[in-house]
Amino acid sequence: MSKFIINGGKKLEGEVKVEGSKNAVLPILAASLINGGESIIHNIPRLKDVSILTNVLENIGCKVLFNGNTMVVNSKGELNTNIPERPVKEMRSSIILMGAVLGRFKHVRISYPGGCEIGPRPIDLHLKGLRKLGVNIIESHGYIVCQYDKLIGKEIHLDYPSVGATENIMLAAVSAEGTTIIQNAAREPEIIDLQNFLNKTGAKITGAGSSTIKILGTNRFHNAEHTVIPDRIVAGTYLTAAAITGGKLVLQDIIVEHLKPLISKLIESGCKIEKYDKTIIIKSPKRLNAVEMIRTLPYPGFPTDMQAQFMSLMSIAKGTSVFVETVFENRYKHAEELVKMGAKIKLDGRTAVVRGIRKLTGAQLTAKDLRGGAALVLAALAAEGVSYIDNNDNHIERGYEDFDIKLKGLGADIIKVIV
Ligand code: UD1
Repeated sequence: MSKFIINGGKKLEGEVKVEGSKNAVLPILAASLINGGESIIHNIPRLKDVSILTNVLENIGCKVLFNGNTMVVNSKGELNTNIPERPVKEMRSSIILMGAVLGRFKHVRISYPGGCEIGPRPIDLHLKGLRKLGVNIIESHGYIVCQYDKLIGKEIHLDYPSVGATENIMLAAVSAEGTTIIQNAAREPEIIDLQNFLNKTGAKITGAGSSTIKILGTNRFHNAEHTVIPDRIVAGTYLTAAAITGGKLVLQDIIVEHLKPLISKLIESGCKIEKYDKTIIIKSPKRLNAVEMIRTLPYPGFPTDMQAQFMSLMSIAKGTSVFVETVFENRYKHAEELVKMGAKIKLDGRTAVVRGIRKLTGAQLTAKDLRGGAALVLAALAAEGVSYIDNNDNHIERGYEDFDIKLKGLGADIIKVIV
């Protein structure tokens, strides 16, 4: 376990390069199983979640070379279609291996991922979609066993635009006979990146980024090379870090389009934003105005993965903000920690009312999930005095590469200690 010690009150200033997207790289790594050959993937962030998935790939028989931020995955030959249980329990998104392994080998056995810190997280939509393609699924004793004789393209209407379900269905459907159409698909940028990677391996997918994705099945795949998109949530977290400390930051290697839902809220609260091709500059005033309403929604709505960080920001803004978390059931665990710092937050189910105060004060805190942990770091950067953040299960490191080092480079007084 690690702990962050932060002496707050320093304005962040300088330039930061945003790493590759965690949520794009995980399905792309799963997709690298499909071509039965070599995939060269650049801009991979060095994160705990990436090493968990890489270990699974090696464990089932892939050869993996990871050098700097480039990974070469060789998925040639027979692989083990029984996915080891531990990584799936440790990292829920390992379920993304299901569609890829199944599409290539007609069989997969994977343990049920179960709930996590932010809610129950069912996978019924993943399974419903795969069943529609002709997969026979047996769920027993905590395992899911999937197999089929023939995978046949079908029209699948998702009841909710789930990111994981859209990805798992795409990963299986690329190998199906005929055409699959996913209606009400998730529209997140990470889905477009998965489409782009899969198409480089020989798949025939169109429509990602819209709510209708069309996949023409094939059995001809080949080697591919790809560069992962920048992480919009990491970028959003640094923008919010600048905003909360009254600082000025230049973010490099970003895609402005992906940040629009967040940028509009930052402008509403009083930040000045300059947008260039792959660069964005944020200047924050001394004190921000509260944003009346923050409702999390699937992309292109305000991202649930930025709700916690934005709550830290609003806790010292001028006025009252109302948050409505529509995506996950249990995603306000950071609120009780912010209250320890003096924040005035009232929770009622999926709604949080935040009355902005002038200053937060340093406290002894615990990161209970990844983004909630990042939110506490931001709050501590702005607070008066010293905060100690227990990074339980290394939550924060699951999603931010060298977070403490990069923040220190921008002027933060932060140290990480291993306990
Ligand atoms: C992905 C992201 C996560 C982000 C989330 C929403 C990755 C690795 N993780 O998670 O960071 O917060 O999208 O943007 O990309 N649901 C069901 N049944 C299902 C699937 C989902 O009811 O079969 C529900 C979930 O419980 C949740 C909502 O749908 O309430 C959204 O989940 P989903 O879009 O699937 O998120 P993930 O893919 O798990």
